[in-house]
Amino acid sequence: MGPEIEAQVRAIQAAFADRPAGLVRHVERVVDEAVDLAGYWDVDPERVRLAAWGHDLFRALSLADQLSLAREAGVPVGPEEEAEPVLLHGPTAAVVLRQRFGVMDDEALSAIRDHTLGAPEMPLIAKVILIADKVEERKRRRTPIMREVRRLARRDLDLALLCWADWKWVEERAHGWDSHPRHWASRQAWVREHHNETGLPARVAEGLFETE
Ligand SMILES: [Fe+2]
Ligand SMILES: [Fe+2]
Repeated sequence: MGPEIEAQVRAIQAAFADRPAGLVRHVERVVDEAVDLAGYWDVDPERVRLAAWGHDLFRALSLADQLSLAREAGVPVGPEEEAEPVLLHGPTAAVVLRQRFGVMDDEALSAIRDHTLGAPEMPLIAKVILIADKVEERKRRRTPIMREVRRLARRDLDLALLCWADWKWVEERAHGWDSHPRHWASRQAWVREHHNETGLPARVAEGLFETE
């Protein structure tokens, strides 16, 4: 591991000393999962470790502290975040890791920022972190369909993201929850991208479908 990234990971690990043990174990599982998945897509495992260690740095803060730290860090707080401050933990961590931990890797920071809701355009490392966070071992046990998302992520990372988003869509509607507009915009972009890829030029001439 490069000395700079190694020092940053150590500083983040030190900050986890006073975090709940359950959160630390989740982060360790995400690190293992993300580094393994990164191997399939040729993403630098050191940067993946850094992003995985940083992604939930503020996940365990009280809701009031999530809001005040986000405001202090200058993270935009909309009505959705006011109602559900836990949505802020990724965006806040990305800002604080840059300002206080010296992390300057923009792609790793965007992976941390967007690991909850996704984004229309995501670098490879952000896709790896988001999927790893959703399919780590404990989450697979709780939500067995994540086993399929995990398997798919080793073959087609974009399709795995879309399948996760569709699972989330069903969950949200089944519970009567709204979809966050940023997540929905991301999903729409992923759907468009997917159809651009699959919507190749027609193999059968238009006229062959005409009956008259
Ligand atoms: Fe998180
Ligand atoms: Fe997480």
